[in-house]
Amino acid sequence: MLRVDVVLGLQWGDEGKGKVVDAIADRYAVVARFQGGPNAGHTLYHKGQKVVLHQVPSGIFHPEVLCLIGDGVVLDPEVLLEEIEGLRRLGLSPEARIFIGERAHLILPVHRWLENVSPEGEKIGTTKRGIGPAYADRYARRGLCVKAIEEADFERQVKALTAYHEARFPKHSPVKYSDTFWEGIALLRNLKRVATHEWLSNFSEVLAEGSQGTMLDIFAGTYPYVTSSHTTIAGVLSGLSVPPQAIREIYGVTKAYTTRVGEGPFPTEIEGEVAEWLQSRGQERGSTTGRLRRCGWLDLVALRYAVKINGVTCLALTKADVLCGLPEVKVRIDGPDTAPVYSTLPGWHSLTDPSFNHFLQFIEQELGVPVWGISTGPERRDWIERSIPAHKTS
Ligand code: IMP
Ligand code: MG
Repeated sequence: MLRVDVVLGLQWGDEGKGKVVDAIADRYAVVARFQGGPNAGHTLYHKGQKVVLHQVPSGIFHPEVLCLIGDGVVLDPEVLLEEIEGLRRLGLSPEARIFIGERAHLILPVHRWLENVSPEGEKIGTTKRGIGPAYADRYARRGLCVKAIEEADFERQVKALTAYHEARFPKHSPVKYSDTFWEGIALLRNLKRVATHEWLSNFSEVLAEGSQGTMLDIFAGTYPYVTSSHTTIAGVLSGLSVPPQAIREIYGVTKAYTTRVGEGPFPTEIEGEVAEWLQSRGQERGSTTGRLRRCGWLDLVALRYAVKINGVTCLALTKADVLCGLPEVKVRIDGPDTAPVYSTLPGWHSLTDPSFNHFLQFIEQELGVPVWGISTGPERRDWIERSIPAHKTS
């Protein structure tokens, strides 16, 4: 029977989901991405080397694990080409373990072009990877899915969609289709493409890897300052075509503080010394865009919402080590977005400090779910599991 555990971001992305997935991936046959695209930047350390994955699931560093890019994703063939070449340079042969849902949609050069010629993305502060335009075409029912590459007139379809958008912005110079785009398409033709629900029914243990976070969900997030996909539990069901009964653990990932890249409300945002501390010690710079991330205190009001709407069963806490050495730590516990109410807790010098344990208990009490995993640093081994989820004991 198919069993799916899920790793979801509970904040505005960059919670460290990739790291959590890498830490537990060897317990699963498959790690599957279900939404988003190369707007994601999942930072992992492989044999001491920093690697950023954009579309390939974070299970790729485990030789026994298969990786699915599911139907809910928008896939950029050029980025995939580059990513696979990067993995090859690390000595991996990833192609044999990558599977692509044939209903995933393609990000074409015209979608990246649209992010530059149309002013819409600017006010949101998007990653300019063509995510919004590709999902817009998908929902307008004129997009191209991965399966379309098998059709004899695929090239004509690409040109027609490009011409459609070019006509909307006649003052701009036309879209360029480089050789790398067509190399990317050739790569896709060589990779294994699958009907997601059929293929997944061959397995019993699957880990669904979220990207971005709950507060960036197209419906549930801080609209319009959101991404264009379902980053929440709903995205798992639609993006992988799995039934709700298949879902088992829902691991919600949160940092011990909050960050946000791009525009939009951020009630617990701070500036000054502590913000700079978080930015530098936490290396809070966008892994896809290189932008400095906005930083703030942990927001338990937003987290309570995220835990509730996703049905989170337990939490994974990341980057508490970044707070080591601060005399006190604040957490928002109440109040409207415009006037957040904080609790001030004693800081900790190390993660074995009793005041860190107090912080954990405080979070658990406020959110009503246990902290199951704690990431203590960037490497795979920097990972502690405190309590074992119910299904693992039964
Ligand atoms: P888009 O996903 O590129 O359309 O960007 C929409 C919003 O989501 C912007 O505020 C981005 O900064 C944010 N965003 C998209 N992907 C990520 C991510 O992986 N981490 C953090 N923020 C993201
Ligand atoms: Mg990221």
